Amino acid sequence: MTLKQKFSQLEDQKSALLAANFYNYETVTGVLRAASAMDMPIILQASPSTIRYLGAEVAACMALKSMEKFGVEGWLHLDHAESIETIQACLDAGFDSVMIDASEKSFDENVKITSKVVSLAEKYGANVEAELGYVAKLGQSHEKEGFTNPGEAREFTEKTGINALAVAIGSAHGFYRKEPDLDLDRLSAIKKECTAALVLHGGSGIPDAQIQEGIRRGIRKINVATELKDAFMNSLQGELTNNSEIDLRKVFPPAVEAVSKLVQQKMNIILNA
Ligand code: 13P
Repeated sequence: MTLKQKFSQLEDQKSALLAANFYNYETVTGVLRAASAMDMPIILQASPSTIRYLGAEVAACMALKSMEKFGVEGWLHLDHAESIETIQACLDAGFDSVMIDASEKSFDENVKITSKVVSLAEKYGANVEAELGYVAKLGQSHEKEGFTNPGEAREFTEKTGINALAVAIGSAHGFYRKEPDLDLDRLSAIKKECTAALVLHGGSGIPDAQIQEGIRRGIRKINVATELKDAFMNSLQGELTNNSEIDLRKVFPPAVEAVSKLVQQKMNIILNA
């Protein structure tokens, strides 16, 4: 099933996919172990910095082969790409889905570059996600507001032909300084106007009840990265404290397990929406 088909199935089921970022083989394994244990589908996603770190082909081989190995229904997605070159490399490597993030450009420029990516991805049968509005990236101000306008969301989706739209409704990437308070009425208004699958970025630290209400109101993909990195590194740091072990195959498994536990928790939030 393509991701596009999956989104339309989720629309009927009023459910969502968890999209977990990965950074190395261990995080891929942790995420997929959880998906396999829960028998739930998953999106594995890599940011451009992960692509720079691993290379598009290695990232694709590792993720796609591992999904096969774990018997998991999953899709490989490129998260927050800003350049056509990175998108092209990932499509050539076999990614199922790409995000073009031109959200900091003007509406018209965003439409232009996103439309270009949609026609590029069409040749590969790949899904395209774009972003409209301001979702603070790591290190950017959480104070600035630039929420997605429902009418613009419709116009943007119609003009570009995207399959998925990241919405700005009060979430932000990284750890929150204060508890987020999602603008759920705005989400419902966007949902009324827009046929693309709606995506919630900045999933780390959003209270479970808000995620669940978001799903009921139309969110179909929930991105989680920061909490996953945190779980992995906390476990690893704990393993390495006062430990002279040099066999890395012995210190990584607990960190893989920590990721798997976290992903299972996130999947349970979706299951109980
Ligand atoms: P967090 O790092 O806040 O979980 O956000 C993940 C994300 O939205 C990736 O695009």
